[in-house]
Amino acid sequence: MQQPVRIAPSILAADFARLGEEVRAVTAAGADAIHIDVMDGHFVPNLTIGPDIVRALRSHSDLPFEAHLMVAPVDEFAAAFAAAGADLIIVHPEAGPHLHRTIQRIKAGGKKAGVALNPATPVEAAVAVIDDVDLILVMSVNPGFGGQSFIESQFDKIARLRALIDASGRAIDLEVDGGINFDTAPRAIAAGADLLVAGTATFTGGAEAYADNIRRLRGHGDNGGDGPDRR
Ligand code: DX5
Ligand code: ZN
Repeated sequence: MQQPVRIAPSILAADFARLGEEVRAVTAAGADAIHIDVMDGHFVPNLTIGPDIVRALRSHSDLPFEAHLMVAPVDEFAAAFAAAGADLIIVHPEAGPHLHRTIQRIKAGGKKAGVALNPATPVEAAVAVIDDVDLILVMSVNPGFGGQSFIESQFDKIARLRALIDASGRAIDLEVDGGINFDTAPRAIAAGADLLVAGTATFTGGAEAYADNIRRLRGHGDNGGDGPDRR
């Protein structure tokens, strides 16, 4: 069942010179989780954040930390980010030879596990692990960079995953990541998403704008509506 909409700001779009302050600011602004994009320059063409930075940020917020691992091979780093204080570890099926084993290991370590599907990765990749995951993430851009445009074909994929999750009877979060803004957020929610990653759209306008940005993305702001009916 679709749950109330939550917003996870991606700190990829934050000011890296003031990361702790930025995490505190979005926490105070009403964010529901902190999304941390981890890139290795190999699985994706960019380099970002290591576990030491997650450890350093941990004391700046009580919100759940989501580590979105775009690294291969992933298992060693999944353990390192768990130890650094991430609450949820999100992995791509292509990032290791044994997705099911990777997810079991994350859960055995006491953390939540999520699976991320690239734009060209079929929904079937999530079916084999639907009894095990806590979250399915739809990549609505190709992973590697913030600030890209939402790929339209992913709305249909969100809807198909919503049906699969509902049929499973499990409380699995359906997260969408990439190109979320005030136009695409309501459409992703209408398709069945209940957790939205938002980098650029959150971290715009300076810290005094973050609360309003988050409220509008969630659908209870001044974007002309009372928010989505589907819950
Ligand atoms: C892309 C990342 C996304 C990205 C989102 O690889 O997984 O989390 O930073 O950025 P925006 O919201 O700017 O599209
Ligand atoms: Zn991400």
